[in-house]
Amino acid sequence: MSTPQLLFKNRRPGETVFMEAYKATGGYSALEKALTKSSPDEIRNLVKESGLRGRGGAGFPTGVKWTFFPSDAPGPKYLVCNCDEMEPGTYKDGVLLAADPHQLVEGMILSAYALQTDVGYIFIRYAYERQAEYLRKAVEEAKAAGYIGKNILGSGFDFELLVHGSAGRYILGEETALLNGLEGQRPNPRMKPPFPATRGLFGRPTTVNNVETIANIPHIVNGGALWFRDLALTPGSSGTKLYGLSGHLNVTECFELPVGIPLREIVENYGGGMRGGRKFKACLPGGASTPYLTAEHMDVALDFDSLEKVDSRYGTAGVTAFDDQTCMVAATLNLIQFFARESCGWCSPCRDGLTMMRWLLETIENGEGTPEHLEMLKDQLKNISGNSFCALAEGAMGPVAGLLMHFEQEIVDHIEKGCCPFRD
Ligand code: NAI
Ligand code: SF4
Repeated sequence: MSTPQLLFKNRRPGETVFMEAYKATGGYSALEKALTKSSPDEIRNLVKESGLRGRGGAGFPTGVKWTFFPSDAPGPKYLVCNCDEMEPGTYKDGVLLAADPHQLVEGMILSAYALQTDVGYIFIRYAYERQAEYLRKAVEEAKAAGYIGKNILGSGFDFELLVHGSAGRYILGEETALLNGLEGQRPNPRMKPPFPATRGLFGRPTTVNNVETIANIPHIVNGGALWFRDLALTPGSSGTKLYGLSGHLNVTECFELPVGIPLREIVENYGGGMRGGRKFKACLPGGASTPYLTAEHMDVALDFDSLEKVDSRYGTAGVTAFDDQTCMVAATLNLIQFFARESCGWCSPCRDGLTMMRWLLETIENGEGTPEHLEMLKDQLKNISGNSFCALAEGAMGPVAGLLMHFEQEIVDHIEKGCCPFRD
């Protein structure tokens, strides 16, 4: 049975859909329906009932997050879309925006109406120049059509939407660093709590949601909460999800598939199996900060709850697969090099801890490791986990935890052989 295409409904290779084509397939009907027939409260409840969980990686229930937002409070309040997609192995938002930018624009207007904010920002990754250009065009088209501006569709609701380019570092995707960046400050993460819902952009209540999360809102408004829940394959899950495939698969594409699809289907059917007829060894199921899955997890459902039960995470559902010729020490070192480079340097568990971890993995990978290095690696994992100021270092521990959980023998082999067993 093929998956209903919501987010990729208008996706055609090499094409971008703008206003006329977007409207031809039902675009802006959800906005018209909501603004003429539903109160902001009703939209908020609908999103809560739909069970939509954040698609940026953390999976926080969107409707619950929206209940923290003081919609009735006087003064400025903001809606911010986090499009600073820089998690290695994650590119779904970029694909979505290259195909159909109006979905995000309509979702932003609907979400702002539900939250009763009159200013929204889309904070977009530095490298997504093309997507930013498409978004700016879509915003202009929406203004010309009367969907953005004053008294939208005669509802009395006003909304302005701005597209803001990121400066190009990974930490800017952390929501409070993003808010600092948007204010023109150095993008250090802020202490949480207070969460942005109470003190966010310019010290005012702010909701930060991911691109794919917001793009789902028009579909939920049109289809209803129950319909949205039924799209998922596993109890307690809801909706479809964009799965960005990468690594040693035959097909490295982005697919819209149900939440709860088994890993086997992703690897064997959609990914077309492993390149060169090799065997599947492991994968990162949801971006670089999620612990590895192995061949024994082939029948695990890819959803938030099922992956936690096997000590991993759904994350962004960016699935990076590794074949049986991959050195998992080298793969993990590659990720830690990225995280150590992107550390903002504010707290020592991350700044010093990741540097130490990079050195330990380099030493082991280069065949200079000893059993003491393995013990130090385990110690570092404990020292960093739960002790960093923001989620960057915590996320970096995902693949290290996976390495130690499933591939400790590979580390031992490096130490015993005095070289990387996967190198010629
Ligand atoms: P988090 O779990 O701390 O927060 C998730 C969201 O819920 C935030 O918006 C937060 O403000 C809100 N929230 C949580 N508890 C709350 C409370 N008690 N009151 C009010 N609001 C509350 O996770 P975080 O730090 O936002 O995201 C970390 C995740 O981001 C990682 O797990 C990783 O998978 C993902 N990530 C994704 C990237 C990408 O390119 N898409 C890049 C880097 C990380
Ligand atoms: Fe900065 Fe890393 Fe600490 Fe986050 S965990 S505040 S990125 S040093």
